[in-house]
Amino acid sequence: MSYLMSNYAPLAVTFVKGEGCMLTSTQGEQYLDALSGVGVVGLGHCHPDITAAIQLQAGELLHTSNWYHIQHQETLAKELCMAANMDKAFFGNSGAEANEAAIKMTRLHAYSNNINHPIILTANQSFHGRTMATLSATGNPKVQAGFSPLISEFIHVDFDDVDAIKAHTDNASVVAVMLEPIQGESGVIVPADDYLNQVQKICQANNWLLILDEVQTGIGRTGKLFAHQYNGITPDILTLAKGLGNGVPISACLAKGKAAELLTVGTHGSTFGGNPLVSKTALAVLDVIKKDNILDNVNTISAYLLAGLQALSSDKIVEIRIKGLMIAIELNQDCTELLNAALKKHLLINITGRSIRLLPPLILNQNEADIIIITLDELLGAL
Ligand SMILES: Cc1ncc(COP(=O)(O)O)c(C=O)c1O
Repeated sequence: MSYLMSNYAPLAVTFVKGEGCMLTSTQGEQYLDALSGVGVVGLGHCHPDITAAIQLQAGELLHTSNWYHIQHQETLAKELCMAANMDKAFFGNSGAEANEAAIKMTRLHAYSNNINHPIILTANQSFHGRTMATLSATGNPKVQAGFSPLISEFIHVDFDDVDAIKAHTDNASVVAVMLEPIQGESGVIVPADDYLNQVQKICQANNWLLILDEVQTGIGRTGKLFAHQYNGITPDILTLAKGLGNGVPISACLAKGKAAELLTVGTHGSTFGGNPLVSKTALAVLDVIKKDNILDNVNTISAYLLAGLQALSSDKIVEIRIKGLMIAIELNQDCTELLNAALKKHLLINITGRSIRLLPPLILNQNEADIIIITLDELLGAL
């Protein structure tokens, strides 16, 4: 009997060690991790520079609270703001918390504009987290089932549909639009190239805040440090988590211009947020991404993987969706059974409906990419 609550359904394997893209089970067997702990361990498991930074910081200072200045947090805020062209940062511990901060900021923006029942537009099939506000923002009834009453001030519109957003411009209660640049959890849905540009124009014309949830797409996952950089835009609010700490829990809510002034003393906080350990770790992550040209590797390996996947002969493949190392292979049939079949072949993948989803570490090399391609070929052949 397990003393854990039943909200997860773990597969029948336990890992005890990791190195690069590989994990070792309690049985001493090696698995190729093509999921990175759901897009978290971008630099691979136990990257030596990250381990060294954690060890050093653990020996110096773990935690003091935000009642005192935290040097590494201030440095990290500066680095992230400079990289993202933002002005200020707030640090939390998870993606949901970063989004929660963003949602609270929109309330403050609304009240300062005398809007008493503010509404945020979010997208169908989006995923923004599991807190009450973020699951209400999430455009997926499965995530919301059983948790009514939801926070009602979200209107869900179709993703990648500019007109669906325009349709709300005469609603004076709308104050913000919150989107993932690429929808991750619903199966790597990549919008039209200029979708975010068009949405930003609408936001600017209506004094709406544009919130981009880059919890999954951020920190190099798509081949740029932030996915919205493909559009050459700067959102008002940008949320990050997952890859930021390479496995150490840290998230960030960055803001620009008037949005950066919304949080004032006492309006928000987090006991652990941005403590010395997690901040130092995130600084080490940003350093490795730069020093080791990780973005170049993402783009090279992404192209290599795409070529390999396109060459697969399976007539079950309907579409391959890929941006950097966010990958979905959509099939013409349900493929839930592939989860365990892949595990038997020592490959960790995710299945989203009819799609195989991969989020391999950003350091993936060609040999490892070949293993993924060959294993998928075998799996599809046996389906
Ligand atoms: C786009 C996006 N936003 C928010 C979250 C929630 O992050 P967390 O599980 O760290 O709260 C996720 C998690 O998958 C995500 O993909």
